Amino acid sequence: MDVKNVKAAYFSPTGTTRAVVRAIVAGIAPDAGAGEPEFLDITLPGSRKKPLTVAEDDLLVIGVPVYMGRVPALLGDWLNAIRLRATPTVCVVVYGNRAYEDALLELKNMVAQRGGVPVACAAYVGEHSFSSAERPTAQGRPDKDDLEHAREFGRKIRAKMQSLSPAAQVPDVAVPGVLPYRKDSKLWDVDFIAVSDECTQCGACAEACPTGAIDPQDAARIDPVRCITCCACIKLCPQGARSMKPGPVLDASVRLNTLFRECCRPECFL
Ligand SMILES: Cc1cc2nc3c(=O)[nH]c(=O)nc-3n(C[C@H](O)[C@H](O)[C@H](O)COP(=O)(O)O)c2cc1C
Repeated sequence: MDVKNVKAAYFSPTGTTRAVVRAIVAGIAPDAGAGEPEFLDITLPGSRKKPLTVAEDDLLVIGVPVYMGRVPALLGDWLNAIRLRATPTVCVVVYGNRAYEDALLELKNMVAQRGGVPVACAAYVGEHSFSSAERPTAQGRPDKDDLEHAREFGRKIRAKMQSLSPAAQVPDVAVPGVLPYRKDSKLWDVDFIAVSDECTQCGACAEACPTGAIDPQDAARIDPVRCITCCACIKLCPQGARSMKPGPVLDASVRLNTLFRECCRPECFL
């Protein structure tokens, strides 16, 4: 099977999933004469209003971060609205060096339920959302080696696609994980962000929030029910005006920094 068109969709509040997916797509590199890869960034709320559509000969790459060992629950509606047509699909999860538990299996199962054919799956490591300069966890990941690994994975996917004959059944790609999924994908409803006087109300945080949880008129007003604790607003604030208040998220960041110092390596399943 030739790789004619590559379409890639990712949810990536702090950019690590985006970097991994783009490196994989660079490795797949469609055949000469085919179109440029198409990227669909579904991080912002408006971008998840339209369902994903695929053409006959698309190869699809889907990337999501791991939240509580699961696919982020807020993507459920969008993922369940996808219509695939036996589309060969690469499933990618990116996790913060703790564990990805059932997330890769869940993503793979969702793709199969929507009519896709998982042809390759992978779990990569990204800097943890709760990581900071004071309490780093997987800081700087994906690093140079991770991204080279992802490009190489892309090249292997391409070789696998070329080795498949169009009529052949694609063998199941086995991935770690168990059913029923072990963890509840419900996140904390928590008011955990402190905003200092350095805040200039520039609005960058509200614009980048994947759930529209920050009031664009007042950056200190955050809806704790909508907030998914992704920490994008903390990481991107140009003034460094946002930080974690004492509480469960700060405690988790301390635990992660203490317990998960040993670097996990990418895992690929083809
Ligand atoms: C609510 C929440 C839950 C998370 N749960 C996990 C987890 O179970 N295991 C893990 O290793 N990392 C976990 N992470 C970290 C992210 O998976 C990781 O930082 C990922 O690289 C973020 O992707 P992004 O940069 O594309 O936003 C969690 C992050 C958040 C915000």
